Amino acid sequence: MQKVLVTGGTGYIGSHTIVDLINNGFEVISIDNFSNSDEKTLDGIQKITGRQVRNYQVDLCDIDRTRAVFVENPNIVGIIHFAALKSVEESVFQPLRYFHNNNESLINILTCANEFGVPNFIFSSSCSVYGNAKELPVTEATPFQEAESPYARTKQMGEKIIEDFTKVTKEVRAICLRYFNPAGAHQSALIGESPRTKASNLVPVITETAIGKRTSMTVFGSDYDTRDGSCVRDYIHVMDLAAAHTACLRYLMAEKNTAPNEIFNVGIGDGVTVLEAINAFEKVTGQKLNYTIGPRRAGDVVSIYANRDKAERLLGWIPMRDIEEIMRSAWAWQCKVGS
Ligand code: WQD
Repeated sequence: MQKVLVTGGTGYIGSHTIVDLINNGFEVISIDNFSNSDEKTLDGIQKITGRQVRNYQVDLCDIDRTRAVFVENPNIVGIIHFAALKSVEESVFQPLRYFHNNNESLINILTCANEFGVPNFIFSSSCSVYGNAKELPVTEATPFQEAESPYARTKQMGEKIIEDFTKVTKEVRAICLRYFNPAGAHQSALIGESPRTKASNLVPVITETAIGKRTSMTVFGSDYDTRDGSCVRDYIHVMDLAAAHTACLRYLMAEKNTAPNEIFNVGIGDGVTVLEAINAFEKVTGQKLNYTIGPRRAGDVVSIYANRDKAERLLGWIPMRDIEEIMRSAWAWQCKVGS
């Protein structure tokens, strides 16, 4: 079987992508230092796939220990690089920690890809690179606006590092995937979103409020220029997002790429407001949600959602799950985890 290295493999998107890769016949190894994830996620992956995934508990900022993983695992066909600090809020207060961790780890993993001849590289980027986009839906050609946070800036910088690297390193082909708002969980409820840090993203806040882990939640602003006054986002089910990574790997392995580095939006191509997301949760679960309308949250963009035509045209990737399936699977996971 062809071997793929997933960094951040016990994280939310990493773990779901490993399941999809294994289900598509790949052998997978992971590098994760568990700084924002739980080792028990590996048990969930094994229960779903029947395969024990080897994880190397290595900090990617330590290049010697990172290199050692490649020495032990020759012939890796691809790297999917998820490992990064990803809290928008935290990055505002700890910019140097975010620039050091996210950029240093990317440079190290690219260095190893080059030294060990790994031909295919997929980078976990984010729709936050667009900032407050002037046109909607955003396409891959939509120019960056000012990053709204140091986190977003590390993703803008990451894409530029990869662009300059692949211009001179012809042996490595890369794809940067710009995720919109990942949410939901694997249908088995054996894996899901389980950060070590307190969740701040909308969907886990909704499910934690519904199960009583939080007494209530706040809708950050209802006076925006949108159809119901609350912000618009493109919520994409994590298993659809996982499938996009496998599609990218196959695309690169078949050498179908039209440039050394290509960008793809990965969203469902539709915008859902915060209040519509809450209504979807209440509809599919029958749970009444205890929320209040509060002030706007600093750093929020009013509205962003994807034009995903390029991914469908070139990768043959089409998302299959809507906001109601996101809420159904997120609630099943929350009920499994408990309060
Ligand atoms: C969504 C909407 C909030 C919580 C971030 C990152 C992005 C990506 C996904 C990593 C906003 C509103 C939220 C709450 C609320 N991260 N909200 N009450 O900020 O769109 O995107 O996470 O890849 O890069 O920027 O996601 O879920 O925090 O917010 O009203 O308690 O829900 O104001 O409008 P966001 P989010």
